[in-house]
Amino acid sequence: MPNHVAELARRRERARLGGGQDRIDAQHNRGKLTARERLEVLLDPDTFEEFDMFVEHRATDFGMQDQRIPGDGVVTGTGLINGRRTFVYSQDFTVFGGSLSEAHAEKICKVMEQAMRVGAPVIGLADSGGARIQDGVASLGGYADVFQQNVLASGVVPQISMIMGPCAGGAVYSPAITDFIFMVRDTSYMFVTGPDVVKTVTHEDITQEALGGASTHTRVSGVADAAFDNDIDALLNLRRFFDFLPLNNRASAPMRATIDDPRRDIHALDRLVPEDPSKPYDMKEVIDRIVDEREFFELQPDFAANIITGMARMDGSTVGVVANQPMEQAGCLDIDASRKAARFIRFCDAFNIPVVTLVDVPGFLPGKDQEHNGIIRHGAKLLYAYAECTVPKVTVITRKAYGGAYDVMASKHLRGDANFAWPTAEIAVMGAKGAVEIIFRREADDPAQLQRRTDEYQEAFANPFVAAKRGYIDDVIMPHGTRRRIIQSLEMLKTKKLENPWRKHGNIPL
Ligand code: HXC
Repeated sequence: MPNHVAELARRRERARLGGGQDRIDAQHNRGKLTARERLEVLLDPDTFEEFDMFVEHRATDFGMQDQRIPGDGVVTGTGLINGRRTFVYSQDFTVFGGSLSEAHAEKICKVMEQAMRVGAPVIGLADSGGARIQDGVASLGGYADVFQQNVLASGVVPQISMIMGPCAGGAVYSPAITDFIFMVRDTSYMFVTGPDVVKTVTHEDITQEALGGASTHTRVSGVADAAFDNDIDALLNLRRFFDFLPLNNRASAPMRATIDDPRRDIHALDRLVPEDPSKPYDMKEVIDRIVDEREFFELQPDFAANIITGMARMDGSTVGVVANQPMEQAGCLDIDASRKAARFIRFCDAFNIPVVTLVDVPGFLPGKDQEHNGIIRHGAKLLYAYAECTVPKVTVITRKAYGGAYDVMASKHLRGDANFAWPTAEIAVMGAKGAVEIIFRREADDPAQLQRRTDEYQEAFANPFVAAKRGYIDDVIMPHGTRRRIIQSLEMLKTKKLENPWRKHGNIPL
């Protein structure tokens, strides 16, 4: 081998070793893969092209001039996932704990800029001790540069963060700006200030896991969209999720051929809604049965479970599904559910993914807690997201659609394109009992009369036909034909054109 070729091979070998074999072993002993091994699992074999393998930091303090590791703690480049392009960066914990120096940040910004030019998503695999302490303020500048790129890329290309180790301090704000955050159970955590600072400031004793582990962020804070058991499970699920997404905001969501008949009738749905309106049923049953091959990638399954969000395919095309869940708080809309669904709908709208909404909602959750914490503003987010949304919107009311929540859940009035109701639908200002108690308050001491009034109300209002007569519902459909009707509507809406008036940006009630 000529000398210069051997020299390149030697340099590459050196870079691939990152922080050295001992630190690689330590990473493995924690049950974690290295930054490069992770990319091998994430990307199709032999598709990874690395950039900036020889970039080094520029710090000189604290003996740093003698510790230059090529690549500087982050592996960046591009590759394919099931044949579709993505840009990636993967932080290498074996190099200064994956901490972010000025040069490390420049590498990340470079792939993000390229991803925007090319029109392909950015996936960041985070495993980092935060700002490189020896780099001082230059590392803070580097973080700000990354944040700025994250914001510019928002709504242009999908951005996904997979947290696979520490992610602390201001470092959390880059993932926070990206579209989706996934975490690995037991080995990843995210917090703005760690347990030691918490102890000093608030005197609370709390572990890293309880403060910012995967279960906290998928159940309590709602910061993360899903958690997985280990690195491999997480990366394979990320591949699966990636397949639902368009590459950029001008591309359509991808098609995947399916053997699932688009006209498939689902007779079990005819019997799904219980006779008694106060009895719940599992809306996930409806989703699983109507989508292609029962494949539904649920997001935030353990947070605000009263609303379900996730990606699925119908006749091969990606759809975003939003559905009230009668099994949780009767499917009421509360602050968390409103925020969860609003953010999801805005992602779908930004990336040309039609939204399918399944409605069974008795209203907004009443209570001091909700009011004092701002259900007005947070509920408005969901209303705003649906009203602003210009992608195809197909809505099916399976049972209750009461009050303001009827309006909010992709109603005709918010430019719903195809609005269907099952014969079990009750579209009204409120349920029969509540309504009668208000309008016939004077008859409250006559239970028999009240019951007659309730039956009358039930007969007159608790059905889909009052709304259908006004054209608020395009058709009352057989539950068994739901899949077919949604797919036909989506097919019809493929050429939908709708634009909002020009503006710099709207002012969503944040
Ligand atoms: C430089 C760092 C580092 C950092 C870790 N290392 N964090 N080097 N800058 N921020 C190095 C360690 O010196 C060590 O080097 C190696 O990475 C592994 O670290 P350990 O401490 O041995 O590992 P572990 O016990 O697993 O602990 C991981 C850790 C801890 C929890 C992340 O290292 C830690 O607390 N680091 C500091 C975190 C922090 O405060 N960062 C700044 C946050 S503020 P050797 O050579 O021994 O392998 C911030 C501001 C961002 O990020 C602002 C943006 C606006």
